[in-house]
Amino acid sequence: MKLFSNVKRIILALSVGFSVQSGAAEPTKDEIETRKIMAGLFSSLTTVLPLSLNSDDFSDPKNREKILSELGKMRDSANAFVSHTKRFDGSYGYIAKSMAGDLKDIFGWYKKGSTSESRYLLQQVTDNCVSCHMKLPDPGHAPRMEAFFKDISIAKLSAPDKTRLQVALRQFDDALSTWEDMFKTWPNPSELFAMDTLPEYLKVLIRVKGDTKRAQKTLEELSKRTDLPKYMNREVAAWKTSLANLSGVMSVVGAELPRAEKIIKNARNQMDFPMDRAGLIDFIVASGLLNRYLLDKKIKADDKSASYYLLGITETLIGRSTWLSQTDYYFEAAIRAAPKSKSAKKAFDALEQQIIMQNTGSSGMNIPDDIQENLEELRKLVHR
Ligand code: HEC
Repeated sequence: MKLFSNVKRIILALSVGFSVQSGAAEPTKDEIETRKIMAGLFSSLTTVLPLSLNSDDFSDPKNREKILSELGKMRDSANAFVSHTKRFDGSYGYIAKSMAGDLKDIFGWYKKGSTSESRYLLQQVTDNCVSCHMKLPDPGHAPRMEAFFKDISIAKLSAPDKTRLQVALRQFDDALSTWEDMFKTWPNPSELFAMDTLPEYLKVLIRVKGDTKRAQKTLEELSKRTDLPKYMNREVAAWKTSLANLSGVMSVVGAELPRAEKIIKNARNQMDFPMDRAGLIDFIVASGLLNRYLLDKKIKADDKSASYYLLGITETLIGRSTWLSQTDYYFEAAIRAAPKSKSAKKAFDALEQQIIMQNTGSSGMNIPDDIQENLEELRKLVHR
């Protein structure tokens, strides 16, 4: 049983140019359950989020009962989702757990009257929704939410906040339009590059929509902006070349791991320095292939480990810069999948370095106990 049993069908349908209609395939029991939990989550989120955009509304005693009840429901739905994802492998469980932790805190803060902490966290919680929804093709099932986006407080959101919410609610077409307007009109193009917007837009087009032509067109238009700094021109040119080279890759089913490996290797050869975003498209395509590959229950442990290790590598460049980093998770998953494999050893070295870097400041190294314990457990597993 798979979470997305119809994903391969969708990929094939997308690749031959059919649009996938809702209800085209009988949903599995798991899909029905996922959608049911999601419906609970988004109905509460769309109720409390508009109120959270104004601190007076959020802390107003007359809204307290309603907000508390919706936050409680969200916390419960997230817990139910953690149990549901336990039956599947992959990073969903990790993200679901992170979201459940956030929602427990959001409810707890609100209940004891710390509404500003609660409000702040609530506005970040959509990062979890976005991280999951950007991984795989869209079966086109999500309900339209036009009325919600017309709500005065939501309509006023800045373009980056609006796209985040649109993706959290799986309104992908609307998100793409919002981004494209933004690329044309945003006054300072350097800001577009510093924010997560371009990688996010490209992830949705490549991994969720499988539409490299539209990405090519947008980059073409972006490169015509006369105010682009030189470094951006260089990146956009590299992305256009990668898109042209990789346009058919996502639609081919099979041999995902060796193909992803090759794409990553080639990209790294093109990159002038480790974090050079010239390799962005290649890493997005490779990660899309790997996400899909990991849905297959029958893959060998070594191959699973190799896939997670490579996902960890891609994530260092294409991951969201805020809140929820999946890099550590992927390296840990690579170790646990096959502790004696070569990729597990490489993943351990990468993870250890990363943890040390994250926890060392001007006052020296200070790794929290739970993280250190987990690291030692992993060290034993890989015999490092
Ligand atoms: C752990 C991964 C994960 C997280 C976290 C997550 N989702 Fe989902 N979401 C999914 C999956 C998987 C689907 C099902 C896609 C499909 O097959 O239709 C889905 C579907 C949806 C749908 C469409 C439901 C339908 O009937 O088609 C909405 C709306 C949604 N999620 C909203 C949210 C919101 C809002 C959040 C955050 C508060 C969230 N999701 C968090 C994985 C996740």
